Order: sequence, then structure tokens, then C-alpha cells
Amino acid sequence: MLELKKRLSGAIKGVLDAMNPEHGLTEEDVVSFFEYPPDTKLGDLAFPCFKLSKVMRRAPAAIAAELKDRLSLDCIDKIEPAGGYLNFFISDAYLSRDVLGRVLEMKENYGSSDVGKGKTVVFDYSSPNVAKPFHIGHLGTTVIGHSLKKLHEFAGYRCVGINHLGDWGTQFGKMIVAFKRWGDRQLIEEKGIDELVALYVRFHAEAEKDESLNDEARAEFTKLEHGDVEDRALWKWFIEISIAEYKKTYRQLDIEFDSYCGESFYYDKLPAVIDELKAKGLLKLDEGASVVDLGEYGMPPCLILKSDGSSLYPARDIAAAIYRKKTYDFDKCVYVTDAGQHLHFMQFFKVLELMGYDWAKGLVHVPYGKVSINGAKLATRTGNVILLKDLFAQAIDKVEKIMDEKNPDLPDKHEKAVEVGVGAVVFYYLTNNRIKDINFVLEDALNFDGNTGPYAQYTYARTCSLLEKGAEYLKGEVGDYTPNEREREVLKALAVFPERVLGALEEYEPSVITRYILDLCAAYNVFYHDCKILTAESEDARAFRMRLSQATSFALGNAFGLICMKKTQKI
Ligand code: ARG
Repeated sequence: MLELKKRLSGAIKGVLDAMNPEHGLTEEDVVSFFEYPPDTKLGDLAFPCFKLSKVMRRAPAAIAAELKDRLSLDCIDKIEPAGGYLNFFISDAYLSRDVLGRVLEMKENYGSSDVGKGKTVVFDYSSPNVAKPFHIGHLGTTVIGHSLKKLHEFAGYRCVGINHLGDWGTQFGKMIVAFKRWGDRQLIEEKGIDELVALYVRFHAEAEKDESLNDEARAEFTKLEHGDVEDRALWKWFIEISIAEYKKTYRQLDIEFDSYCGESFYYDKLPAVIDELKAKGLLKLDEGASVVDLGEYGMPPCLILKSDGSSLYPARDIAAAIYRKKTYDFDKCVYVTDAGQHLHFMQFFKVLELMGYDWAKGLVHVPYGKVSINGAKLATRTGNVILLKDLFAQAIDKVEKIMDEKNPDLPDKHEKAVEVGVGAVVFYYLTNNRIKDINFVLEDALNFDGNTGPYAQYTYARTCSLLEKGAEYLKGEVGDYTPNEREREVLKALAVFPERVLGALEEYEPSVITRYILDLCAAYNVFYHDCKILTAESEDARAFRMRLSQATSFALGNAFGLICMKKTQKI
């Protein structure tokens, strides 16, 4: 629709210029005014004229009447003024030739653009805390982050994905104590991260009874900071084991990172940052700790060093931002974490600004809401967590059972169950507005008949099998064919994809794509249900419907790619 909106806007602006050369509106302004009427009977696109009333110094109805008289466009069948709106009815020819033609020509690139050409964006996402469980709380940063990266790539940006691992901090002191006291190297080699998490949980349970364990942990962390050989080796080993495990989950989601530089990577870069903060007069002592005072900006102080001189989370983030600017020369650096960390980001963004870094305005925090499962909150310390891999495993298992019933002879069943099961979790998660809290109910996510990932994947698979069965009908030309109402709705849904991509990008909101997928699936399934395709009433109708299905297949596939969902051909 963006193409069409631009065409219409060019023409509208021409008329406005003639009416009042002083109106001061750009073509982009005019494009942004368009709305979609609530009911397609009113039209396919609506242009609200009351927004123009002030600059045009005319009543909305008068503007609408004048526009109607003066506009003549071959892509529009009919223009109707109604209550300050001008409603446009798109011509069949435009939908069935221009829109369909564009999708079929652009194929895997349909929806892409070059708005980000020449610009670089760094994405800091997923970033689990090593040796702590990779739990469902990290699902948001992982899939929202990756989806945002994909969206930016699709819009022509150069993207860098960084997994800012939580691989430094006092939890390693605890882990080292726990390992030295109760650890079993062989068991950890065998069971991997689960065993590390068990040690972490045990540490907290024991420390409740014996507080001195916390002092011991602090001492071990200080040793680690000072380069103790044994502690360093243990720490490295914990990280290796954890990354190996995370990569299994990332593989299921088709996620790869360009860098795994975690917090520890910035350790040796901190002294220079501290010196700079001091030189710029920003560092203050506050009960022994070094902080940057942000009172003037309505925020609590940003904590840089503890009283014992060890660095804190914000200090490492400041060093990381400076390093990334030097290394990637980003235009934007996007951080995806739960909303609970918002203040932390606002604080260190401010500190970088106060350090005189103009590029700090390119730092963006994208927060998201909390997750509960079947109504239960999560807590790491008590071990009451749902691990991401367990959630995926459960989903895969359930999908496999459903497949056993529905389609017992399906080849590569397990592989497909992985794609559909993982896709179901991701889709369900990304259907929500990211900032809203979400209660995860696996049964709902897996409902093949609901507005779910499996339903979307099923629709996609449906287009694929149709294209396979009717491949020969895609070869010939389509003669003169006038689309019916059902087909029009699919064409209109196809037409809005590029602007939905831009909308998702602008709002950092993958749910725009998830909802788009549901809209397109709904339009396509109504069409599929009501119109014969392979046995259509005429050759032209058959050829047209096959192409419509092919275009839907491209658009759905492209949209899946933007939300980390695999394109499963047969289910
Ligand atoms: N490791 C942190 C956590 O799990 C998230 C890190 C986010 N990125 C950052 N640069 N601070 O809460």
C-alpha cells in the first residue's frame, strides 16, 4: 500500500499546492495521514481531510469535495467524500497487476527496503548470565532482539549482533565456592549447565544457613579479579560449558551472534574509562563508592565502583558502548532487556552524554514486560525456574504427539516437531505488545486452531503443497481476470506488508509482524475455503489463484523470517 499511498499523495499534494501554495506540507506528511477504514465497504483507504483544515484554511468537507473533483488516477476506481474523509476504492487492475506483480517479482525480498542503507546498528540481546539458568525470562530479549535485528537487515541496515554475556560479577565467587565445596568435575562435564545451576541453587540454600559463605564468595571473586590462576581456569570453564548449552537453543531458533564479548571483555578497558570520568570531573565519592551524580536529571546516582574498588554493571556497560562505537562506528546501538533494567540504561546513557559523546543519542533501550507461566512467577535463586530449553522440549513433545494423531506417516516428524514446537513458543511470545506482561500457557501456544504459530505454519505449508501440486498452472500467462471479494482481501493484505515492516521497525515492535501474519493467514484461509483453486471454474481463475497462493507463500515466508520462525513445508 505504501506504493499506492505515495502515488496518491503525489497527486493530492499537487491539488493542495494549487489550492494554497503556502500549506507547507511535504509529500511524506501527506503519506502519513492515510488510514484504513474500519469497514471495507467504506473504501480501501481513507484520507482524513480535517487534518488539513487548519493549514488550508478551508472546511474539511470543502477540501474533500475539491480533491474528489480534481483527482483522477488509474489505480483508483472511485473516490467518495464522507464526513471529512475522502475514501478511495482501489482498482482491481492495480491490485491484481501491480501488487501481485511486485510480490512475485521481489519474491524473498518482498517487504524489504533500503531505508537503512549505509547505516550500522548494533544489537545487544539475549545476554544470559553465565552459570545462572537460561530461563524463560530470557526468551523475550532473545527473540525480540533477534527479530529486531532481522527487521533492520531487511530494511538495508548493516547489523551486528552481540551477546553481552553476564560473564563477570560476584556470582562467580559463589560458583567457585560451590564448586570447590560440592562440585564434581565429571558430573559437570556430563550434565553441563544443569549441574552448574544446581550448584548455584545449592549455594543459596546453604548460605541461608551459613552466612559466612557469602564472605567466602566475595573473597573468591576478588581473587578472580586479581587473576588467581585456579579461579580463572574455573571461571573460563563455566563459561565454555554455558555457551555450548546456549548454542543448542540458538540453533533451534536459527540465531547466530557476531560476537560473544561479554562483560568480562571490558575488564581491562575499565581503568581508562575511570580516568576519563575523573578527568571530566564526573566521578564523585559517595560513602566510599564512586558514582556519577544524576540528581539534576531526576535519577539516582550511576554506580561505577564499589568502595573496595571493584567495578559495577554500569561501568562495564559504559566501557562496552565506547568500545562498540570505536569498533563498529554504529549509528544506533539497541539494547533489549526486561523493563526492570530501564533505569540502568537511562543512567549510563546519560553518563555517556555527560562525557561529551554526541553519539550517545544513538543508544536505544528496548524494554519488554515480565513473563509468568500458568500464572506462576519465576525466581532464580530458589530454583523455581522454567528453563528455555525445557519449555522448548515440552512444546516439541506435545507437537509430536499432535502430529502422531493428525499425520502419523509424516516424514522427518521429529525435525518438523522441533520447528513447529519452537515456532509456537516464539510466535505466542511475539504476539503480545512487547511491553505488556505475559502469562505463558503452553496449551494456548500450541493450539493448531487458534491464532498461533502452528496455525500460521500450517497455512504456509498449505500454500507450499498447493504450489507443488499445481506447479504447471503457474507457467502460463494470466489473461484478463477480475478478482472477487475474497481475492481482493488477500491482495490488500499482501499490499500492506512493506509498510508493516517499516511500522515494526519504527516502534521496535515485532508483534506488528506477528499480527500481520495472522491477518494475511485469515484472508488467505477465507479465500482458500471459499474459492476452488486447482479445480477453478476457468483457466484464468486457476492461474490467478495459483499466483495469489504463491505470493502469499512468499509474504508469509518472509514474515516468518522476521520473527525467528521456520518455514515448514509439510506438516
Ligand atoms: N546479562 C543481563 C541480564 O541477564 C542482561 C545484559 C543486557 N545488556 C547490557 N549491555 N547490559 O539481566
